[in-house]
Amino acid sequence: MNHTLVSLALVLGLALALVACGSDTTTATPEPIPAGADGATVYQARCASCHGEDLRGTDKGPSQLSIVYEPNHHGDDSYRSAIRNGVAQHHWGFGNMPAVEDITDEQIELVIAYLRSQQETLGFER
Ligand code: HEC
Repeated sequence: MNHTLVSLALVLGLALALVACGSDTTTATPEPIPAGADGATVYQARCASCHGEDLRGTDKGPSQLSIVYEPNHHGDDSYRSAIRNGVAQHHWGFGNMPAVEDITDEQIELVIAYLRSQQETLGFER
């Protein structure tokens, strides 16, 4: 084999390996949250895919502005627990919420504070 062919084979092998990794969704770890992110950024990175960029829900999760989530019904500890441990479906028909991966305790507090302030500003849906 001449030199060009060998390097061509190497490049091809590498490309195939990359494609294989890219299509493996079961072990995909979420994008890292940027350092120093605020609560809104954490929310968009870890929650918005299900609860909606505008907090009003998607076909994968309920609105965070539902009256169900007002602080007296779902206190901050239920938020901490949902994020760390996930929640079995019980209020809606969206399925279970999986535990949120790759999030620090500090980011959890930031995202809860963000959601509470948004709930206060935007008001609950009735
Ligand atoms: C993969 C989708 C998904 C992601 C990502 C997700 N959730 Fe959820 N979440 C759900 C679903 C579905 C429910 C509704 C479960 C039920 O009550 O039926 C839920 C419920 C909740 C609840 C209510 C818990 C309870 O005790 O009833 C809270 C609070 C919550 N989510 C917060 C968050 C926050 C904050 C994030 C981001 C850090 C997040 N979720 C990310 C799908 C998701």
